[in-house]
Amino acid sequence: MEVKDRHRAAGEAHGKLILTGEHAVVYGKPAIAIPFPLRVKAIVTENAGEISIASSIYTGRLEGMPDKMLGIVRCINRCLELCNQAKEGIHIELESELPMGRGLGSSAAAATAIVRAVFNFFQKPLSQEGLYSLVEIAEKYTHGNPSGIDMRTVANDEAIFYQKSQGVSSLAAAKPFYIVVADSGEIGDTKIAVEHVKELRQQRPDVINQIIDEIEVIAWKAREAILTGDSALLGSLLLRNHENLKKLEVSNAMLDHLVDTAMRAGALGAKLTGGGLGGCIIALTKDMTDAGIVGEALLKGGAKRVWYFSTDSQWLTKR
Ligand code: MEV
Repeated sequence: MEVKDRHRAAGEAHGKLILTGEHAVVYGKPAIAIPFPLRVKAIVTENAGEISIASSIYTGRLEGMPDKMLGIVRCINRCLELCNQAKEGIHIELESELPMGRGLGSSAAAATAIVRAVFNFFQKPLSQEGLYSLVEIAEKYTHGNPSGIDMRTVANDEAIFYQKSQGVSSLAAAKPFYIVVADSGEIGDTKIAVEHVKELRQQRPDVINQIIDEIEVIAWKAREAILTGDSALLGSLLLRNHENLKKLEVSNAMLDHLVDTAMRAGALGAKLTGGGLGGCIIALTKDMTDAGIVGEALLKGGAKRVWYFSTDSQWLTKR
């Protein structure tokens, strides 16, 4: 029997790590994020009938997706409208190296990979702004009030300095930095964390605004430290940022324990990364040898898994 090649297209994105400024970025303050080199790939193929999707968390009809994934359904439907296509005739497969709910940008990366794959499949042009407006449909549903930093980082191959009112500017580091990422194994919920900070801010506006202002100061200094290649300064700023995130009540006992463990093992600084209330911490080390030592200490201290890598000036070098 003759087997016809199926029409097939792919789209990709990578994870993200927020170095400084999460939560404050929701209130218009600057934040710094870098690509995290774990990838998400979406593959679109021709398939008769209703749209179907296969991923590690759901496989079946697009329209039957669980409620918490409705953002992706809306995003895909909008893609099809913009590509002038009927809502049928494709199958989407999602392969992700990124663990979910760990502050590593898995939801933004999945939506970005899918949008890119669908536009590639229908051979339609997709501008960067067009991509963001489509991914935002999914992100708004998943996160409630996203600042936009996640989707901009997962779609860019460079470190970014981001502020809602100013958009993205790239950040070329004077020298590589060495970063360890440790997974607490606890799932964090960014939507709940962002809501919590909002409530705190409504209850105690002066105190919370002061903390948010302090996080802004840290972000500007961290930018300088990156541009001048000052790892020691950057490390101390990460730790200061963590102290402020604790005051925003988005850390927890395990994240604090992992930060302390990294510091005791010789890290230059450490903090939770992303929404918090679970997820990951990052630690900065002076070199790759120390990254290995800190990584081992984190695993012994209860981290479920650890990654470490060096960034080059374009932030693309993996370990
Ligand atoms: C989540 O990765 C970062 C937060 O600042 C939320 C956002 O900016 O959308 C917590």
